[in-house]
Amino acid sequence: PSYLPIPGPPGLPLLGNINAIDAEVPIKSLGLLADQYGPIYQLNQLGKPTIFVSSHELVDELCDEERFHKALSVSLNEVRNGTHDGLFTANWPGDENWAIAHRVLVPAFGPISIRGMFDDMYDLASQLAMKWARQGPKEPIQVTEDFTRLALDTIALCAMGTRFNSFYHEDMHPFVKAMLGLLSGSFTRSRRPNLLNNLPTRENNQYWTDIAYLRELSRELVDDRKNNPQDKKDLLNALILGRDPQTGQGLTDESIIDNMVTFLIAGHETTSGMLSFLFYYLLKNPHAYQTAQEEVDRVIGRRKITVEDLPKLPYINAVMRETLRLSPTAAAITIGPHPEKNKEDPITIGKGKYVISKDQIIVLLLGKLHRDPEVWGPDAEEFKPERMLDEKFNKLPKNAWKPFGNGMRGCIGRPFAWQEAQLVIAILLQNFTFQMDNPSYDLRIKQTLTIKPKDFHMRATLRHGMD
Ligand code: HEM
Repeated sequence: PSYLPIPGPPGLPLLGNINAIDAEVPIKSLGLLADQYGPIYQLNQLGKPTIFVSSHELVDELCDEERFHKALSVSLNEVRNGTHDGLFTANWPGDENWAIAHRVLVPAFGPISIRGMFDDMYDLASQLAMKWARQGPKEPIQVTEDFTRLALDTIALCAMGTRFNSFYHEDMHPFVKAMLGLLSGSFTRSRRPNLLNNLPTRENNQYWTDIAYLRELSRELVDDRKNNPQDKKDLLNALILGRDPQTGQGLTDESIIDNMVTFLIAGHETTSGMLSFLFYYLLKNPHAYQTAQEEVDRVIGRRKITVEDLPKLPYINAVMRETLRLSPTAAAITIGPHPEKNKEDPITIGKGKYVISKDQIIVLLLGKLHRDPEVWGPDAEEFKPERMLDEKFNKLPKNAWKPFGNGMRGCIGRPFAWQEAQLVIAILLQNFTFQMDNPSYDLRIKQTLTIKPKDFHMRATLRHGMD
């Protein structure tokens, strides 16, 4: 058979296409290249080819876990310096600890356990509401910064049993500083040759100091809980007390720490980015804003929100899904041919059209996938929560909406993030009227490991005295 070449821009001899990518917002360049070269294209970066795909048809094929698996991107491989074979940065097959931790932790993220964390989530959501109430309607709200405080404090309380108290300090908690050091350091390292990463420069030393600090503080918190057991259904207890149903084994101390740091990394930016984009879209779409607020008023009114209220907010649920469709905060995932199960020779993708190597890294561009007109129609660019109400959502083709990743390597924290977000959206709509700080603001993106709106500010006026 004859195979097709994968299209892509011509590159420089040694550097490849490194100049094709905007250093600040790579995902934007990657999307523009998809517009130019189509749903599959290839770039060479420092001698390594990477394939980028964005149509539903291709993604659907690549989500087949009998042929493909999660392969660590270069940046995740660097994050692994801090989290080793913790769930997010594990290689599977390969790292045995992934399967053990997965089996131990799945029940901790089940619906009953997550409901048990409602009170802690409520505590922090009301701290955020208090802060905005105190600030008053004249002060622009730093939306992503405050949602990041919320998400960090919530995951720290539930997974580490500690309070960062971010709403009471301008400065970041030292754990957060160190974690951002690990993330930004990993991003920088992934874009330069190993030789430079191994030199004892100040920057490299700081990177390893940050990692050591993250692990040290985590270890202290684990020891503290072990020495002072608490009868709580939180993630920290699940890490310490959980047993593998298959082997009866618990997690080793190292694995507990790897996963604790992992939850903090995986669980804060994604959630805070989703909340920030969501308020941006509501403010740009007054009809959706009004419908969401009416739902809260009708179902909850002015009384205290309970965990039983959350499933009764279908429109807000649809707003959340539609937000993650247009702005998937984890904007890309990476996969490669399954090292054991994929027996094809040669290995192909695109229904046999293109040949790839057995260690090829393929990036799925989720924001592009979520705008494929074949699935979403000619109004794919528009924010329309109605298309995400259960009746329509449940009829979407398989693998059309992937903000939480794929299959067994998909997001374990999804129910946690969902409950936290539903709760805070409901509390905020119940108590405030929001406006854009600058009515002509249009979405701009800031990219780190995830994406979030850049320079987005709003103002909040209390609707009535807070009860
Ligand atoms: C994995 C998205 C919230 C913990 C993932 C993946 C995505 C994702 C796309 C797959 C990554 C990959 O294939 O490389 C999101 C989004 C969130 C969110 C959009 C919020 C809106 C959370 C929270 C936690 C969490 C709150 C922890 C409490 C994890 C973990 C993994 C993961 C541990 C790795 C799972 C594994 O491979 O076994 N997430 N996530 N996430 N997420 Fe989330």
